[in-house]
Amino acid sequence: MIDQISLGYSKIMTEMGIKNKILEHDSLVEAADVVAQLGYTLNDSVATLIMKADDNFIAVLRRDVTKISFKKIKKLLGVEMLRIATPEEFNKITELEIGTARFYVPGIKTYIDKKVFGKKTILGGTGSLTSTFQCQSEDLKKLPGIQVVDVTSEIEEVVTNLKTTKRVFSGIRATGRLHLGNYLGAVKGFLELEKTGKYETVYCVVDIHSITTPFKPDELRANKREIIIDYLAAGLDPKKSIIIYQSDIPEHIELAFYFSTVETIARMMHLPTYKEKVKQHPQANTMALLNYPILMASDILIYKAGLVPVGIDQEPHLEVAREIARKMNQIYGTDFPEPVRFATKGEYIPSLTGEGKMSKSVENSYINLTDNLDEIKKKIAKVPTDSGKGIMGPPPKGIDPKTYEGKEKYSELVGKIPSGVAALFEFVELFQGLEKRKYYEKIYITTGIKYGQMKQELSEAIFADLKPFQERRAKIAEDTKYVDEVIRDGAERARKIARETVQEVKEKMGLL
Ligand code: TYM
Repeated sequence: MIDQISLGYSKIMTEMGIKNKILEHDSLVEAADVVAQLGYTLNDSVATLIMKADDNFIAVLRRDVTKISFKKIKKLLGVEMLRIATPEEFNKITELEIGTARFYVPGIKTYIDKKVFGKKTILGGTGSLTSTFQCQSEDLKKLPGIQVVDVTSEIEEVVTNLKTTKRVFSGIRATGRLHLGNYLGAVKGFLELEKTGKYETVYCVVDIHSITTPFKPDELRANKREIIIDYLAAGLDPKKSIIIYQSDIPEHIELAFYFSTVETIARMMHLPTYKEKVKQHPQANTMALLNYPILMASDILIYKAGLVPVGIDQEPHLEVAREIARKMNQIYGTDFPEPVRFATKGEYIPSLTGEGKMSKSVENSYINLTDNLDEIKKKIAKVPTDSGKGIMGPPPKGIDPKTYEGKEKYSELVGKIPSGVAALFEFVELFQGLEKRKYYEKIYITTGIKYGQMKQELSEAIFADLKPFQERRAKIAEDTKYVDEVIRDGAERARKIARETVQEVKEKMGLL
């Protein structure tokens, strides 16, 4: 039963035009526990912070995955002192218990951080520990006297269900050397999650996925080992992470077959990745290719992993994995988590051609992690550009056309840059920082960019980033014994977990 406190609040919000739903749960204080029980993640929840700024109290609404910048709020309000309200002060202002703060706090000024609007549907407090408020973020603009502000740092973590996720899984195909897209979109996330020490991390070279499109056995044999070496050179620690070849754990294939009983052919045929691959290799429209996403679901779920560091292109596959987890749990009573993506800043690295994403299968689109300075320079030199001068159009309203002051990234606001130039700006931000990007964007619309110089500096910055990796890589590649031991040890540890899951599924499906 929903209590009176929440019902009363829901009514007030509805009267203000903020449509809402009240979701019931156990009596919980921590946002992480609430979202986990409701089947959401901390990405979806918004906290109301009551703060004291000089002599006044204010409310600040921010996404739970963001961090407040005290400096920014102080600057915005022009105050000297800023702190979080004490529990007594919180009680006095809100007349509510800690952990139940609402979006609407009558009597004090409310600031909403702009990242709140990055999620369409959001969750927040109702005034009660046993229920949660859900509404459209846009509707919060109807709250009286609110101000939208930019007072949080970058979203740092996309964390799921902290309490229940114990494992992380990800994989890369063995179709060639790793490129910057693989590194920034995936491997950086592998490292980040390994570093937290909170999860058991399993990182795989998905060699069986590599045979779902045309391949050459000798190349595959060489390539798969190269990726293990890349993982180690990138900094993965085999003492902390389990590093494996997919084919060393045949249970992945076994579980995939069981999973295939709950997925339809039609659903698989509609996946964008499948259609793309069929277009690329029309003569190789095989059953293995159609089964690709099911094997991927099996890779993840065999370890009951809840968090998967991959680029944004893998989202449709993760949706399939979640679907399979739900169906298996419903039909057979298994306890598979619904895995979510762990995103890095480089979740979508553009192609050097300016069209689409960086990809192994598109020539001239990528920079390999093993490329030397000369190769990088040659590749960056080929990125298509323009005259370098100002076709971004007039600045939007409220922005001074002479200085273009007052915005984060010019390209986001004006958005009329040719795609090759946009890709260069993206790389500048990733390897030389946001300030440098802003600088180039500014001269692009004023004095003009000299691409020769820009490309030279960018190539050097990319190489400087890759050099330590390449040096470590050369050493590891020589140590055959060490690499063999990592692969052997990984397989042994992974097999234990995989066998257990397969045993459980066989029992529940009536095979045992
Ligand atoms: P694969 O081998 O195509 O790519 C490996 C990883 O690199 C990321 N990636 C990118 N990220 C950002 N920008 C880019 N341009 C870019 N290009 C590639 C991919 O998103 C991916 O994270 N299906 C997977 C392999 C796989 C897997 C799994 C992954 C099989 N089973 C289980 C996770 C969990 C794939 O094809 O990755």
